[in-house]
Amino acid sequence: MSMKDYHVPVMLSECIEGLNIKSDGIYVDATFGGGGHSREVIKKLTAGRLFGVDQDEEARKNAEKFDTGKFTFIDSNFRYLKRFLKLEGVEKLDGLLADLGVSSHQIDEPERGFSTRYDAMLDMRMDRSQDLTAKKIINTYPGRELQLVLGNYGEIRNARTLADNIIRARIEAPVRTTGELVNILQRFVPPNKRNKYYAQVFQALRIEVNDELGALKDLLNQSADLLKSGGRLVIMAYHSLEDRLIKNFINTGSFEGREVKDFYGNSLKPFKAIARKPVMASDNEVRKNNRARSARLRIAEKI
Ligand SMILES: C[S@@+](CC[C@H](N)C(=O)[O-])C[C@H]1O[C@@H](n2cnc3c(N)ncnc32)[C@H](O)[C@@H]1O
Repeated sequence: MSMKDYHVPVMLSECIEGLNIKSDGIYVDATFGGGGHSREVIKKLTAGRLFGVDQDEEARKNAEKFDTGKFTFIDSNFRYLKRFLKLEGVEKLDGLLADLGVSSHQIDEPERGFSTRYDAMLDMRMDRSQDLTAKKIINTYPGRELQLVLGNYGEIRNARTLADNIIRARIEAPVRTTGELVNILQRFVPPNKRNKYYAQVFQALRIEVNDELGALKDLLNQSADLLKSGGRLVIMAYHSLEDRLIKNFINTGSFEGREVKDFYGNSLKPFKAIARKPVMASDNEVRKNNRARSARLRIAEKI
């Protein structure tokens, strides 16, 4: 299988331009995946280095095909980036790229359980060595917690009713597969709204399984410490919960969108946005790669 099949990189030239690469700089690709973005970064380096990070073992296998002259793979969740870079003797970066979420490969592998298209075990772990799976959430979370996951992360309006019904169903028999979950869900929506509803529920579970918002917050906080003044943060989100955290952090220095100030009222925000609005993929790119449709790219410079 070629890397192209694994994952087609989104807004590749926009991301590379956003990183403003210095040939002797130190860069991080926090979401290596198929290495599509990493490959372009490496091309621009002479004396510089790139660290690629991914928590998925399949991504690690892709990284094994990369020449280690200028490249090092870090097999970890990006929330521990600072610690791993320290072990490599790196304290400061010229640029950090993150292309959040799951790769096409992860979605297209039926047994990973990310897709409503296949009947598979409810899994959804990016890091398959962790304990928490979607199956565990659906079958063990108390009703109130299930409701919060579905409501907050899936933005589902009838989250309480749905949570109650999942609990009723699991008392009869454990809900083990994506197909069994979809059977429960289909009672709650008219046929023409099914796909959107399923996608919302699956998104909610995926975010909870992988603690995606917690990991993103950790990454953003560390990026402020790691980037040199003038260093670039280039970050791409595919849903509004992530994009809101990124936008608020860049514009104000806090996740809630409250400007962080010192005792004298001076702003302490670590970044300045390169553009007020997110960059969106061109119509041409979206035509070729539907995944690019929901991508929002934000670029900021460390102050
Ligand atoms: C959208 S894909 C990146 C694709 C990549 N830019 C390319 O062109 O091939 C996201 C990747 O980031 C990884 N990932 C997501 N969240 C992560 C986290 N918290 N820590 C480490 N890797 C993560 C996923 O396993 C996945 O491989």
